[in-house]
Amino acid sequence: MLSAFPRIDLVGGPTALEPMHRISHVTGHPQLWIKRDDCMPLAFGGNKVRSLEFWIGEALARNSDVLVVAGALPSNQCRLAAAAAAKIGIDMLVLYAGDASAPLRGNALLTKRLGADIQMLGPVGEEERGRLARRTIAELEAAGRRPYLIGDPVLGALGYVRAAQELSEQAQALNLDLRHIVLPGSMGVTEAGMIFGAAILELPWTFHLVSVEYDAPTLRRRLDDILGDLAGLVGRALPSGYLDRVRIDLGQLGEGYGTPTPASLQAAALFARHEALMLEQTYVAKTFAGLLKLAEEHIIPPNEAACILHTGGTPAIFEQNYSD
Ligand SMILES: Cc1ncc(COP(=O)(O)O)c(C=O)c1O
Repeated sequence: MLSAFPRIDLVGGPTALEPMHRISHVTGHPQLWIKRDDCMPLAFGGNKVRSLEFWIGEALARNSDVLVVAGALPSNQCRLAAAAAAKIGIDMLVLYAGDASAPLRGNALLTKRLGADIQMLGPVGEEERGRLARRTIAELEAAGRRPYLIGDPVLGALGYVRAAQELSEQAQALNLDLRHIVLPGSMGVTEAGMIFGAAILELPWTFHLVSVEYDAPTLRRRLDDILGDLAGLVGRALPSGYLDRVRIDLGQLGEGYGTPTPASLQAAALFARHEALMLEQTYVAKTFAGLLKLAEEHIIPPNEAACILHTGGTPAIFEQNYSD
């Protein structure tokens, strides 16, 4: 189904699927597993690497000679785009929403280290950032370059359509009857890809999207849009009723995107001390706090195996000075 789409290999093979024995002991849920998308060879890895396989595949198929990405300073996507560009040897322009005087830390510091050209757009919002990115693309074209703008959500979701198959094959090889998948609910790219992949394979997975950014109607709308476009792109309809398997969990949102909660800070400490897992606060720690709550409340019953997707974001930890 995906062979028609150009892709380059950046993930470097299946990421590990591991049991979390010590957390299982703490929670009383004996079957908690983790998919380690935080462990990839490319510059600390993370979910965006799977999308970049398709974005850069498309860029190379179009014979592009410069990649462009826009984001906020803590963006994992910008860091990983710069890493992929360094690895394959193509020019990279990163447009950061932020002040030129802002010190580069964490992800942004790594983006610079990876050799990307960096332009600071000033303190602009998401919409203005998109407009400026399109203007930059037009300027590059006018100067005779062949730019490719990274970030198309539908193409990016193909990475997680593949990941759903990868996870299902790993579970099968272990004789593991997975029933629940827990992952962050955010822009919808990772989520829609996994849901679509699982639906096409008719996997009996219930998805728990732990929202870290949006209210439920907004996240559903984002998912519906990407899923609809995905179905068009690959020429396969989403099996009817499959969306009933998608739960949106708003319980970890707290004061909103990027603001930790007592539960997310506790989760970061608990998973570090029991599983040596490193959780940043914007996406990952809230999602893991969600898993704890879902297990505690038996929304994920103890007799049904669950897997949480660790989406990475590790360098962000060094920008977040929250003590626990
Ligand atoms: C570490 C991490 N987890 C989760 C997400 C959310 O992924 P998506 O945008 O596909 O919803 C992001 C997005 O930036 C991320 O960097």
